[in-house]
Amino acid sequence: MNTKTKRFGILTAGGDAPGLNPAIRGICKAAQLEYDMEIIGIQDGFAGLVEGRGELMRPSDYSGIIHKGGTILGTSRERPFKDEEKIKQLIYHYNNWELDCLVCLGGNGTQKRANLVRKLGLNVIHLPKTIDNDVYGTDMSFGFHTALEAATDAVDRLHTTAASHKRILIAEIMGNSAGWLALYSGIAGGADVIIIPEIPYDINKIKEHLDEREMSGSKFSVIAVAEGAKALFDKDLSKKEMKKKYEGQPSAAFRLAAELKALGDYDTRVSVLGYVQRGGAPVAYDRVLATQMGTRAAELMAKGDYGNMVALKGMDIVAVPLEKVAGKTKVVPDDHLSIKSAKLAGTTFGD
Ligand code: F6P
Repeated sequence: MNTKTKRFGILTAGGDAPGLNPAIRGICKAAQLEYDMEIIGIQDGFAGLVEGRGELMRPSDYSGIIHKGGTILGTSRERPFKDEEKIKQLIYHYNNWELDCLVCLGGNGTQKRANLVRKLGLNVIHLPKTIDNDVYGTDMSFGFHTALEAATDAVDRLHTTAASHKRILIAEIMGNSAGWLALYSGIAGGADVIIIPEIPYDINKIKEHLDEREMSGSKFSVIAVAEGAKALFDKDLSKKEMKKKYEGQPSAAFRLAAELKALGDYDTRVSVLGYVQRGGAPVAYDRVLATQMGTRAAELMAKGDYGNMVALKGMDIVAVPLEKVAGKTKVVPDDHLSIKSAKLAGTTFGD
């Protein structure tokens, strides 16, 4: 009987998100304490795997981190599959460390790369992390709820200054391909206008809404706009084409402010929330979800059930084959309940 202790490598890749440390802790505790596995903690995502930067982890490395933001392993946006030499190095270090599996914590890009690792014939498990909540195949990714609290708090704060000065305050919220964060924080913060990439906006419709508010006595407005927002005239442009068209130009919120200015004498101010949305301690929801997903990943490894993403489906934590989900993005559907309810509660999407 083969009694070799299983050994896995763990890395965090892509933009960081609160919840990575609780997930690392969950995986490592379950794997080491319950299933007696060895763990190589790989530094800085795929860059560390390619360069062979990894070390055996001890319980003291992953204890006392559940409340910490960021990732104790470090991260990077390294894309090894663009370079044959890097792919060779990746395979070499996987084998050299004698890994039974590679656990990748990350968003859509990481999901895609985890699937490419699988296609190399290596064992892999992916855990969905992102503040954007756009990982396909899971109802929720860890990181989203923490960012949502930060963005909602910002939208709340913008209300008081907007009201005092009778201004239009535009909050730019992260989310390039999908508008979950702008949508949810806009609703939770009571934004008057919400603009998301999935619903191209007509600036005239937004103007109408602001004017109606003004006439009805509301002398200020708050707009929540996703960074990947598109005007109606850009609706057919892909993400890449949008990037090219607006390279080096002001971001979505500033473009919107300029478009409003061209239509009337609006006193607008822009607040780009940026990286405060990704920083800080994970909220309780993200700690719990990350722990559930992390411990499930350890269970899958113990069973030798590889090639999956760990996902939330309803109230269950399930394993979804990577080949079924990799390369797709979970955008906000047109008929999403939250859009309908926001409209009924008086918010416009400019459509
Ligand atoms: O995917 C998370 C995210 O924060 C997006 O919302 C944002 O568009 C992007 O990462 C920013 O990337 P970077 O960390 O490379 O600046």
